[in-house]
Amino acid sequence: MAKILVTGGAGYIGSHTCIELLDAGYEVIVFDNLSNSSEESLNRVQDITQKSLTFVQGDIRNADELDRVFENHSIDAVIHFAGLKAVGESQEKPLIYFDNNIAGSIQLVKSMAKAKVYTLVFSSSAAIYDEDNISPLNEQMPTGIPSNNYGYTKLIVEQLLQKLSASNPEWSIALLRYFNPVGAHKSGRIGEDPQGIPNNLMPYVTQVAVGRREKLSIYGNDYDTVDGTGVRDYIHVVDLANAHLCALNNRLQSKGCRAWNIGTGNGSSVLQVKDTFEQVNGIPVAFEFVARRAGDVATSFADNSRAVAELGWQPQYGLEDMLKDSWNWQKQNPNGYN
Ligand code: NAD
Ligand code: UFG
Repeated sequence: MAKILVTGGAGYIGSHTCIELLDAGYEVIVFDNLSNSSEESLNRVQDITQKSLTFVQGDIRNADELDRVFENHSIDAVIHFAGLKAVGESQEKPLIYFDNNIAGSIQLVKSMAKAKVYTLVFSSSAAIYDEDNISPLNEQMPTGIPSNNYGYTKLIVEQLLQKLSASNPEWSIALLRYFNPVGAHKSGRIGEDPQGIPNNLMPYVTQVAVGRREKLSIYGNDYDTVDGTGVRDYIHVVDLANAHLCALNNRLQSKGCRAWNIGTGNGSSVLQVKDTFEQVNGIPVAFEFVARRAGDVATSFADNSRAVAELGWQPQYGLEDMLKDSWNWQKQNPNGYN
């Protein structure tokens, strides 16, 4: 069975993808500097699957460390999650984001080319779409300059990978444009464990529910949406993890560089998320309305028909499952992996 290098595999989406890879019989090598994760997630992945993986602690910006992984293991393909993702921090520390996300990705493809490994699945984001596009967003719609440096790094890496692929037909690259990943593995043993104050809606809601935060601030109730709050396409992290397997299988059989939206195609408002969370879990979530957050759009959801048609992928979980599973993880692990 093929050997897959998973950069950033100890993180939220990476750890869920490792489970799917191991369950499908792939050999997994995780390469992660643990800057935003803990090795405990990988212990739990191995417990859940009753299979072992190889963990190498290292940084994608370090050529020697990466080259050594390719020398020591005959890697067939790479799934590249490693990177920084805090939108606010990317505005304060742009160089750290350019270095980790852009320079790190360049180093990764350099090491891949040196090792003659040309199959890559890259974690991109719906943030790369021009904000004037009207949802549902499809892959032919124009990209824009994202409102923050984090999104900008995703756009730049997508463009670099497209040019790389155009320059050498050996490359086979999937650009997966994630919408809003939430939820956790059914076991509740792995999940999202943000450091410090969460930036994203879902971990904020679960931390209020578990008593770690006083109340949720809802950023704006005057958008042109169903109830005035922002609408997003929430996707279960297990469905997202599965999309990586589908993309990997597709890429192992064809060449070139292609983008796929990974979302459910359904939009939910912040109030719908909060209300549904309260209903399905029976826990109140205190909240207040505050001003809009800079850079947010009113509505963003996917046209996922290309992924469904070309990858044979189909999301299995709805909003209620996502909210039950997020809470199941948070209540079993009130302080995350600590
Ligand atoms: P995460 O922070 O949980 O996982 C990222 C992992 O990469 C962490 O384990 C971290 O320690 C590691 N890492 C960071 N910099 C590294 C480096 N220089 N070298 C080696 N390892 C490094 O984040 P996640 O939510 O699992 O996201 C995974 C990927 O998906 C990221 O690239 C992220 O930008 C992208 N993405 C995430 C979302 C989201 O909402 N979670 C949305 C769109 C795209
Ligand atoms: N929101 C709140 N309160 C919070 C957090 C968020 O009201 O405390 C609202 C936001 O205003 C937005 C919605 O909840 O309407 C979702 O916000 P998130 O921060 O969870 O997600 P975003 O859609 O802003 O961003 C996410 C990822 C990015 C990615 C983007 C792609 O965090 O990495 O989706 O669309 F680029």
